[in-house]
Amino acid sequence: MIYQASVTAPVNIATLKYWGKRDKDLNLPTNSSISVTLSQNDLRTLTTASTSPDFATDQLWLNGKIESLDTPRTQACLYDLRQLRQQMESKDDTLPKLSQYKLHIVSENNFPTAAGLASSAAGFAALISAIAQLYNLPTSWSDLSKIARKGSGSACRSLFGGFVAWEMGTLANGEDSQAVEVAPLSHWPSLKAAILVVSDDKKDTPSTSGMQLTVRTSELFKYRVENVVPRRFDQMKQAILEKDFPQFANLTMQDSNQFHAVCLDSWPPIFYLNDTSKRIIKLVEKLNHDAQKTIAAYTFDAGPNAVIYYDEANESQVLSALYKHYGHVDGWKGAKEEYGSSGEVDKWSGVSRVILTSIGVGPQVTSESLINEAGLPKNAE
Ligand code: PMV
Repeated sequence: MIYQASVTAPVNIATLKYWGKRDKDLNLPTNSSISVTLSQNDLRTLTTASTSPDFATDQLWLNGKIESLDTPRTQACLYDLRQLRQQMESKDDTLPKLSQYKLHIVSENNFPTAAGLASSAAGFAALISAIAQLYNLPTSWSDLSKIARKGSGSACRSLFGGFVAWEMGTLANGEDSQAVEVAPLSHWPSLKAAILVVSDDKKDTPSTSGMQLTVRTSELFKYRVENVVPRRFDQMKQAILEKDFPQFANLTMQDSNQFHAVCLDSWPPIFYLNDTSKRIIKLVEKLNHDAQKTIAAYTFDAGPNAVIYYDEANESQVLSALYKHYGHVDGWKGAKEEYGSSGEVDKWSGVSRVILTSIGVGPQVTSESLINEAGLPKNAE
């Protein structure tokens, strides 16, 4: 007897950045953050969670390979979910004792994990929602977001679609540090994103150690969390609710820049942007300058990849400007015919592919299963 459930979960890209932990074990942040959830058509993790009295150990297969579940963060997530299931079982004798069985979890991304896109956010959001579905937990999305947060901070925001806030909370146990919806996808469905995957040989500083270093050493960081983020958090929420693209975009770019500034202000300094990233910043600056209004917003996480937000109304202006320099790389799909024929071409190097996507929904239950009748992955190596 195998019980199973499958869920897909999205990637989210912050427009107001989370950077800094006040509690490393619980992933409690030093500031609140805001993100946009991206469409699962282009970027998503599909996870099947299964359980059976016949399974001998908890096991995870990620993109066809066995991965360890034995990390403190994953263990914290599994513990919380089993506790919630156990509480249900203790109140209702008729329920199968799933909390006592081992889990087989199979997970696949529809995009290259190595591209340095926020795969851990989609991964933990899919893991938590698939097990919650398997256990039939009545838990709210915000409560599940607190479990996902323990896996990877930014993962808590992937439990919702549209525009999402992670409220930092003040409690020491993290019970008020959760994700909430600012506005659903339907509020502003015309928001689009172009991702420029930037080639990079060097290994970036992992986000956890980078954050710890910044918290310990950057003076600018103190100013940021005390004086800048609280104000920006309210302004950005308002810009989203009013669908005020220029305001939303300017705040997004300023916040990305300030996040990279506190990285540079850390000691020793941390760099995530490379020359290609900086060239893209200038390109977007020029695009907005030429348009005489802000029609595109760049943002960069803990790596050199650029995410450029724009409204569909300005798609042809924004994509033509990007196509001019990066039209030779993969990923333009149907947009190629439209932007390829117009204007000059001036090929720039440094970008390996583009991903054209849009705003999307939160986790979705699916009938597509990744496990076979034996409780093993269908596509294992
Ligand atoms: O939760 P992590 O460890 O993936 O940290 C994410 C940090 C940033 O991506 C740089 C910012 C953010 O808010 O997502």
